[in-house]
Amino acid sequence: MIVNKGEIIFHQDQEGHQAFLIESGQVEIYYTHSNGDISTLALLTQGEIFGEMALIDSNVRSASAKATTDCQLMVISKEQLLDKLENSDPTIRLIMKILLSRLRSRNKSQAAAINQSQKLDSENAIDHLKFEHQLNEAFKKNEFVIYHQPIVDISTGKLIGSEALVRWDSPNKGLVPPGQFIDILENSSMIIPVGYWIIEECFKHSKLISKKFPKLNFSISINVSGRQFANALFIETLEKLVQQNSIDPKNFKLEVTERILMEGGAAIDVLSKCRQIGFEISLDDFGTGFSSLQYLPMLPIDYIKVDRSFVMNILTNSKTKSVVDSMIYLARKLNLKIIAEGIENEKEQKILQKMGADLGQGYFFSKPMPLDELLSKL
Ligand code: C2E
Ligand code: CMP
Ligand code: CA
Ligand code: CA
Repeated sequence: MIVNKGEIIFHQDQEGHQAFLIESGQVEIYYTHSNGDISTLALLTQGEIFGEMALIDSNVRSASAKATTDCQLMVISKEQLLDKLENSDPTIRLIMKILLSRLRSRNKSQAAAINQSQKLDSENAIDHLKFEHQLNEAFKKNEFVIYHQPIVDISTGKLIGSEALVRWDSPNKGLVPPGQFIDILENSSMIIPVGYWIIEECFKHSKLISKKFPKLNFSISINVSGRQFANALFIETLEKLVQQNSIDPKNFKLEVTERILMEGGAAIDVLSKCRQIGFEISLDDFGTGFSSLQYLPMLPIDYIKVDRSFVMNILTNSKTKSVVDSMIYLARKLNLKIIAEGIENEKEQKILQKMGADLGQGYFFSKPMPLDELLSKL
């Protein structure tokens, strides 16, 4: 018997009179839930038999069967099958009935589980879309704000600059930290306009700071994501923003993570260009991910940031301390400066100072704060 692609061979809950052997092609076995949802139970191919259950246990079809390609099927009649069965051992016949009844109930619960997880998938996807939409609206309504976390000379405690950290000041959610939305921005094209907005906002903040404190050398560190960095117009736009806002790039560090190096040579080229414009470069989250020590000497960078995950264990784990020791040694050899981030107490500050870190950042010195508050502390 030949069945064309898309044709339904039999429906669930019908009586069965034949079983089938697939000689060629593919057949989908699917379960239809009481609300009409459908879950695939199996995709069967050449050499497999289906439609035998209803014949053996004289029950209705446990599922539907549909040809997903043109199929050549061999039909096995009920009489043929039952004849063989009746001549078999009664214990075997009993076991078969038990097994079939188990398969029927397992199919039901398995299909329900598949259906539920498909539902969760689509619910997640819808929630994600909604959140993306909210972020887009938030950006249009100017609800993103830049907070500053002071960065200090680790030995003297003197303020030398800040890291700009974005927050969403939502009228109904309150102050939303970037951990809850940065990934979503970065995985959508929104990070490009939002990223440029962040850069320009930092330029404006820097101008306000130097206007109020003309003698202060204050450097703002700006986080730049891989996607922003890979944008073909990044350098061009950066130069335009520098000119339009007439800022001095020397007062800024661009923070990039090791991850951008995954993009290979092009990323190094973009880094060099940023440096030619006059920006300093910090390598953020150093040692946490795609650490490639072979790249390090080739990188046009000025600072390495020792990640908080190292700092938080430095007093309790001697191995972590050794890793940080070698990071600092390596940075020295490569003429790089070290910023230790996530310093939460004096002991951590002291040990990192002793180990040779240049700059420090963390709750011990100060939490991130709005520009007004920063200005009042300078
Ligand atoms: P990051 O670049 O590693 O930033 C440091 C994070 O550690 C900040 O969290 C900061 O508030 C937190 N932190 C600083 N000191 C301490 C400390 O002593 N203890 C503890 N427990 N935490 C400390 P935040 O502001 O929530 O930012 C999280 C991440 O979001 C950042 O990690 C960065 O990857 C991303 N992010 C923040 N702002 C921007 C942005 O403007 N652009 C981009 N592309 N990413 C951003
Ligand atoms: P029957 O119940 O007659 O009709 C549907 C057929 O689908 C059934 O016989 C079996 O041949 C087949 N079938 C049911 N459940 C599964 C499963 N979980 N995996 C593979 N085939 C199945
Ligand atoms: Ca950072
Ligand atoms: Ca970091």
